[in-house]
Amino acid sequence: MDFAQTLLAWYPDHKRDLPWRDTPNPYHIWLSEVILQQTRVKQGLPYYVAFVELFPTVQDLANASEELVMRTWQGLGYYSRARNMHATAKIIAQAWQGNFPTTKADLIKLKGIGEYTASAIASFAFGEQVAVVDGNVFRVLSRFFGIEADISSPKGVKHFQELAKTLLPTQQSQTYNQAIMEFGALQCTPQKPNCMFCPLQAGCVAHATGKQDSLPVKTQKIKQVVYTWQWFFIK
Ligand code: ADE
Ligand code: SF4
Repeated sequence: MDFAQTLLAWYPDHKRDLPWRDTPNPYHIWLSEVILQQTRVKQGLPYYVAFVELFPTVQDLANASEELVMRTWQGLGYYSRARNMHATAKIIAQAWQGNFPTTKADLIKLKGIGEYTASAIASFAFGEQVAVVDGNVFRVLSRFFGIEADISSPKGVKHFQELAKTLLPTQQSQTYNQAIMEFGALQCTPQKPNCMFCPLQAGCVAHATGKQDSLPVKTQKIKQVVYTWQWFFIK
């Protein structure tokens, strides 16, 4: 079985049941991706539920007060995410009449939606044939193929994005995108990947060479402005 088919076969038996996986609603998918950008699933899940309940549509989020949005976000950290999310919701509500753009090309034009998020929404909500490449995907690809390109450099990122494109299956690409991310989160984990019981083991370069711990290569910390709870008092 090839790489993608192995992951597609692995996925149904191992995936976690997560609410944003049962919906084609681009707004809900976007919410989940923004929340999960610097947050673990377990921590992010209750926030996702709260946002969907308080702000069921992107119009609702756009119309909400900044105070309520920030309060609902409280505890998640990286507060610039919430502010940017609120601003993007207003743009979608106004310039797009509350309808999310349906292609990656249009999504990425929106202020606040970058390469990763545009790909995730295009794939998960609209089934577009695009690769979704996050930290999990960098890790799985770098280990399986033994690639030492630096994921903290634009050139390295590009390299993985190009490779990811070539691996995308023609059928079920959205499930495949979920599968490889879930595989990175549960099986090919940052520490102590479960190589012993791994369906990709036979073809895996990192396993053959014992390089799991040195892949992916990341020479620089990726910069992120951190806002703490003190931000509220300053405001
Ligand atoms: N992390 C980022 N996006 C995710 C998703 N859609 N499912 C699970 N974990 C994620
Ligand atoms: Fe990851 Fe280990 Fe499986 Fe290779 S064998 S894909 S390093 S879990």
